[in-house]
Amino acid sequence: MTAATELSFVHRFEPGADPNAPPLLLLHGTGGDENDLIGLGRMVAPDAALLSPRGKVLEGGMPRFFRRLAEGVFDEDDVKRRANELADFIGEGRAAYGLPAPIALGFSNGANIAAATLLLRPETLAGAVLIRAMVPLANSPAADLSGKPVLILSGSMDPMVPQDNAARLAASLRDAGAAVEHRVLPAGHGLSQADVALARGFLANMPRAIVSAA
Ligand code: MLT
Repeated sequence: MTAATELSFVHRFEPGADPNAPPLLLLHGTGGDENDLIGLGRMVAPDAALLSPRGKVLEGGMPRFFRRLAEGVFDEDDVKRRANELADFIGEGRAAYGLPAPIALGFSNGANIAAATLLLRPETLAGAVLIRAMVPLANSPAADLSGKPVLILSGSMDPMVPQDNAARLAASLRDAGAAVEHRVLPAGHGLSQADVALARGFLANMPRAIVSAA
């Protein structure tokens, strides 16, 4: 079932079969929309509620979650503004659908806005799976991510995300207290079967106590 409650982002909501399964916030890549990651969400968390907003920024008609000046060069003021906007939407979604703090599952641009949201509004997310993520802000904000589980999945052949950039992101989230697992897969920028398997295992093993306390 897809609900269409009017909130500040165009979005799709799919209820979960298990009300105790931590909900997922699905964040698509450039050119995607609220439908893109529903299938992935169901594969990695079969019983979870899925909240999936559409990025509000258009680049040549393609939805994104924040402006960029060039590939891999971000408009950081916009990153901050949009991360706060997304955090507000998470609050609206939680109230509208009766959800605990969700775990972000972001791909590419969606992973980058998830990382920014974790750093700028840590209380809004219970954790994150960041697929092909990069450092969203050159100067990492001081954040308390104590105990938040984060899985970063990078590709060793990713032409868009230099490996040292993903390693810096892992280090900054770790420095902020997150429990970070960073895996580098033999993959490019695209999603692979290994991403699906690792994300599924990570979410299945996530302690419920962390989720409900968030
Ligand atoms: C970004 O702009 O967030 C990254 O370059 C990834 C992408 O969207 O292609």
